[in-house]
Order: sequence, then structure tokens, then C-alpha cells
Amino acid sequence: MSKTYGDDKLSAIDAMYQAQKIAFAPIMFQAAKALRDFRILEIVHKSLKKGIKIDEISKKTKISKYGVQVLLEAGLSMNLVYVENDYYKITKTGYFMISDKLTKVNMDFTNDVNYKGMFYLQDSIKQGKPVGLHKIFGKWNTVYEALAEMPEQFRKSWFGFDHYYSDFAFPELMKIIFKNNPKKILDIGGNTGKFSIKCAEHNSNVKITILDLPGQLNDAYKNIKQKQLDDRIDGYPINLLDDTKQFPKGADIIWMSQFLDCFSENQILSLLNRSYNAMDKNTELFILETYWDKQRFPASTYSLHATSLYFTNIANGNSRMYHSEDMIKLVEQSNLYVSEIIENIGVSHTLLKCKKK
Ligand SMILES: C[S@@+](CC[C@H](N)C(=O)[O-])C[C@H]1O[C@@H](n2cnc3c(N)ncnc32)[C@H](O)[C@@H]1O
Repeated sequence: MSKTYGDDKLSAIDAMYQAQKIAFAPIMFQAAKALRDFRILEIVHKSLKKGIKIDEISKKTKISKYGVQVLLEAGLSMNLVYVENDYYKITKTGYFMISDKLTKVNMDFTNDVNYKGMFYLQDSIKQGKPVGLHKIFGKWNTVYEALAEMPEQFRKSWFGFDHYYSDFAFPELMKIIFKNNPKKILDIGGNTGKFSIKCAEHNSNVKITILDLPGQLNDAYKNIKQKQLDDRIDGYPINLLDDTKQFPKGADIIWMSQFLDCFSENQILSLLNRSYNAMDKNTELFILETYWDKQRFPASTYSLHATSLYFTNIANGNSRMYHSEDMIKLVEQSNLYVSEIIENIGVSHTLLKCKKK
């Protein structure tokens, strides 16, 4: 890493406070979620500047006064609410907790996908396997093989998280993708078909093939059929962890969005080498990722570092949200080069355009 990240500038008192926030984080997380789910924060917010007392909240929510009290007192320490003469009022953080979609998506993903499994993080790191996935959900090799069969709440929060980030990015990408009028696109790890559908709706000539696991393709086929785009979007069922499975040739663009972070560095090399084999000198490989070093806001970097541990413990045991320099090194090692870097797409994405050396 060629830059310095972080510092050690906190006073001892602030550092001690920070350490306690970490020590109690899972407890406070559940308290914040209860304040959100029981609509206590919403009720406090609606009371505006006047504020609201505990017994009134208890009546409105049908939660005991004791329950409302312990949650709100935790809320004071989390700076979700403040209190003046027994009247509770919302803070900006409390407001974000109930109104910001990103916070909701991240919180649901933490709770429904990660929370129980995180108890086994240390085992996952020691074994290089997603022990959280194995203990809580089942003995799959990776979460991707299991997605189609996961409990409904897991699927809702997993897709909510995945789509939130990509939904923002896809619309503004269309101009970039169709600049050279591609006729054929390979959407590697195309999931439920959102990107492919967006492309096919944007351009009435383009043909797209989605490469993904059969479970995800079944979801994609339903969405494609519903949009009557099955004459131009098809699927190619494949387990991309199998190094012997080459990609179809002849595409003008090979597209990988929020995809390479699902793989270890060695696996990425194999995927890039197979991309190379499927490319000619004009083919462009587009890699869309959220790199933790490319973030404008500390909230984004924090979210990405936490997301890495989802990969460690739930997804596959060996991948992560990458530093952009690590990804560029892998591209270079695969006989490809980065011809253009476009930053600040969507919430926090960077697009690497790559070509054959
Ligand atoms: C995080 S999702 C990204 C989805 C989509 N490209 C987007 O930007 O929202 C990763 C996708 O890669 C697929 N994938 C992961 N491992 C795979 C494998 N071994 N073989 C085929 N597809 C795989 C998953 O099924 C999933 O659809």
C-alpha cells in the first residue's frame, strides 16, 4: 500500500470511549435495531421539538415502560436520542437510522445474513472457510451455491444489500458501456439479470449472455421473461470456480460488477486469465467494484471493511473488498492493462476498463 491510512490522534479518554463502543457493539446494535423495529425512533421523531415521555411511547407501541426505558437509555449512549426534562427527542443519527435507505440495507444485511454466524469469525480466519455459513445455514462451499435455497429473510436482506449498491451505479453506466456500440456483452456473475435487463432496455440491438450458477439463473430467467427480453438475453450456467471452464468468445464487452470481490486473489487471476482467452484486441473488460481506498466518506470505508468480514465468515472464507492497487496488480499479471479508470460512480464504485496488452 503506497499511502498512509488512519492515525493515532485520539485523546486517551476518547480512545477509551471508542474501545467501549467496540466492546459492547453487538448489544448496542440489537438495541438500535429494536428502537427502529418497535417504531420507537419514529414516534420520537414525530414528536418533533416538543419531545415525548416514556409512558406515552409505551402506550403507543404497547411495549412495557421498562422495555422502552432500557432501549431509550441505550439510545442516549448511542446518540440516537437526547432527553430534556423527561422528554425524548431525536438526533440526526437517530433520524438516519429510520430514514436513510443505506443504513437500513446495511443493518438488515448485518442482522439477517451475518449476525449469528459472526460468532465463528475466528474459526473462519483460522480455517480459511466460511464457518459462520456452515454453523448457521448449512455446509455449502460458498454462499452463492446456497442463495436460491436460503431462508426468505436471508434472501431479502442479501439481495437488498447487493441491489442497493448496484442499482445506483447501473443507470449512469449506460452511456459509458454503449460508447463504442457493443453488439454482444457477457455479464459474468449477472445474478438476477438486473444489469443485463437495463442494457437490453437501453439498446434495442445488443445481445447479452449471463454467466452464473444455475440457482441464480433461474431467478434471472423469470425476470427476463417478464420483461419479454428472452430473445436477446440468455444464460450460461457455470461454476466459475472450475478453472477448466472457459468463457464463450466473441463478446465486445466482458462485464464484471461487484463480482471479483467474491473471489480470492488466485481465483481472480484464473477469472482474468479466462477473460483474456475469450477476448480479442478490441474486447473491453469492465470491472466495477467498490474499493475501500477510493471512498470519499469514512462511512463508506467503514462499511467496506465490515463487508470484507462477511466474505471471510459467510460468503466463502477467502475473498474481500479490495484495495484498488491490489486489483490493478492482478489485472497486470493477467496480461491485461487498465486503459481507463472512472471513479465516483453510483454510491461508491470505480470502473476499471481493461484491454489485452
Ligand atoms: C455479489 S453478486 C453481484 C451481482 C451483480 N453482478 C451486481 O452487480 O449486482 C455476485 C454474483 O456472482 C455469482 N457467483 C459467485 N460465485 C460464482 C461461481 N462460483 N460461479 C458462478 N457464479 C458465481 C453469484 O451467484 C452472484 O450472482
